[in-house]
Amino acid sequence: MAGAADAAKLAAARHAVERYVRPGMRIALGTGSTASYAVQVLAERFGSNPPDCVATSRATEELAARLKFPVRPLRGDDRFDLMLDGADEVDPALDLTKGGGGALLREKLLARLSEEIIILVDPSKLVQALGERAPIPVEVVPFARPVLEREITALEYRPKLRTGPDGGVYHTDNGNEILDLAPARPLEEPDEADATLHHLVGVVETGIFVELADRVVVGKPDGTVEERGRPLARTH
Ligand code: A5P
Repeated sequence: MAGAADAAKLAAARHAVERYVRPGMRIALGTGSTASYAVQVLAERFGSNPPDCVATSRATEELAARLKFPVRPLRGDDRFDLMLDGADEVDPALDLTKGGGGALLREKLLARLSEEIIILVDPSKLVQALGERAPIPVEVVPFARPVLEREITALEYRPKLRTGPDGGVYHTDNGNEILDLAPARPLEEPDEADATLHHLVGVVETGIFVELADRVVVGKPDGTVEERGRPLARTH
């Protein structure tokens, strides 16, 4: 039987698809358990007339294939009307931590190509500051990883190399590794933290998503939802 968190994720996915998806749209499909509910609802509702979709991971591509829901490869001139994705944390400014499912690079790329980004979460994802409940994932080039572990530790993060279900080193769809960073304290300035990490040679992408989400749909276990829109841009 599905638990309360699953009911909440499904409620968020249903609401977003029913309210915001129209036939003919170009859609970027996220990764993770909540985004998977969105793919399932899309397949149910638009199976015979599917939107034009690109997925952010092999896992989402495989789910779509199982559902016989078409997704296609990314093209150089792609733009999306809408992105539907989950998150590991959402702060009050709607900045996000993402990458728990390992797809942060493709997620950030497609997010940048999307006109509107809707993030689907259950209430456990809401935090006051990023880094409060989830580590900050950073995708790194394997060769650079030992150096990055030292440099990142000097920045007051505790890096942990992500492993897969078999206990071996986890590799992303892009062949890279992930360091999950526990910050010494939750991030006060996510954009600065993102920029600092990006300056390290060998960092491919971070799971800090600043000023990307336009709307967050918080699903509740009772099937209701609450929507949050992005407040005005930071002034500092
Ligand atoms: C995937 O890489 C992530 O960014 C997911 O969006 C995030 O981890 C949320 O996943 P769940 O919906 O499974 O919690």
